[in-house]
Amino acid sequence: MALLLPPDRPAPPVAPLLLRALRGEEVPRPPVWFMRQAGRSLPEYRELRRGRRMLDLCGTPELAAEVTLQPVRRHGVDAAILFSDIVVPLEAVGVDVEIRPGVGPVIGTPVRTRADLARLREPEPDTDLAALAAAVRLSCDGLGDTPLIGFAGAPFTLASYLVEGGPSKAQARTRALMLAEPALWAELLERLAGIAAAAIETQVRAGAQAVQVFDSWVGSLSAEQYDRHVLPAMRVLMQRLSALGVPVIVFGLGTGHLLERLAATGADVVGVDWRTPLPEAAARLGPGIALQGNLDPAACLAPWDVCERHARAVLDSAPARGYVFNLGHGVQPQTDPGILTQLAAYVREQHA
Ligand code: CP3
Repeated sequence: MALLLPPDRPAPPVAPLLLRALRGEEVPRPPVWFMRQAGRSLPEYRELRRGRRMLDLCGTPELAAEVTLQPVRRHGVDAAILFSDIVVPLEAVGVDVEIRPGVGPVIGTPVRTRADLARLREPEPDTDLAALAAAVRLSCDGLGDTPLIGFAGAPFTLASYLVEGGPSKAQARTRALMLAEPALWAELLERLAGIAAAAIETQVRAGAQAVQVFDSWVGSLSAEQYDRHVLPAMRVLMQRLSALGVPVIVFGLGTGHLLERLAATGADVVGVDWRTPLPEAAARLGPGIALQGNLDPAACLAPWDVCERHARAVLDSAPARGYVFNLGHGVQPQTDPGILTQLAAYVREQHA
């Protein structure tokens, strides 16, 4: 029997579109946000960044919150992602990391031996992660009803920076350590799962309403390697995150051959890059998993009519339920922000 609310009681608040789509509920149109929407494609970001180190910007809550809000104001996207970086929780426990412009994270002393593992303790939320929590709280205050997505780097992707000492195309040294010293590797990934979990717990307690685990470089592994060397740590991570009660998205570039594995981690949503058609991902993963993606970020470098044609094709191929519009990887720094504003407006105009 339907329960009738007394007339003086306000209707229950409707959850933000993003959260309803991530949970697989019916929505009037897909929500839209862009990976790497906060940052280098925006002139107002470059202005704030001038004369400051990237990691100092991340560690100053008022400024990190300002950068978090910039793309929401400009593009009218349905979610913010916290302005931070996957290496911030590593820096918080004393790893000597810096982010070099145009290069990415560089680690002073790489992690390659059992003795190096001692440097990877789990961060203390109230001390090590206080600035992260403050940045989330200030962002949420400024966002009103727009939800904030918290994030962390997945154990494999974090390990790739720590072992290589910096960015790497094929992660050869990382994969060599994984194959040569599986016990050391397992312990490394377990520690990194703890660091990622602590970072995400802190963000959710401070107000993040959904989270994304970036396993950007895990596509360099075979399915068998993933099962043996990555899945156990991902399951430990996802188990801790499931206790938080917020939707968890997992994303990796070039992971078409790993989609079932990404879902098997326990994530609620799988991010798909442009190489895998959405109908194929939907058929392989079934209705219990929501999808996010998968416009080629290169389409945003083309004139609007080209971008629109490709966005149309993505929308037409997307599942009716459990779908969030996004790019198949991050916004390229040279993207004209005007194209992103048009793209966000185009998705907002869609109706079921
Ligand atoms: O909108 C957002 O996504 C904002 C927050 C964010 C950043 N990095 C800010 C950033 C997020 C979610 C990340 C995640 C991140 N960082 C990932 C996973 C996502 C992905 O794209 O695959 C990875 C692999 C990193 C490591 C990292 N940090 C890279 C590869 C780079 C780029 C290096 C370069 O300059 O080409 C960074 C630096 C970084 N992180 C910048 C920003 C805005 C550029 C900083 C600058 O120079 O101003």
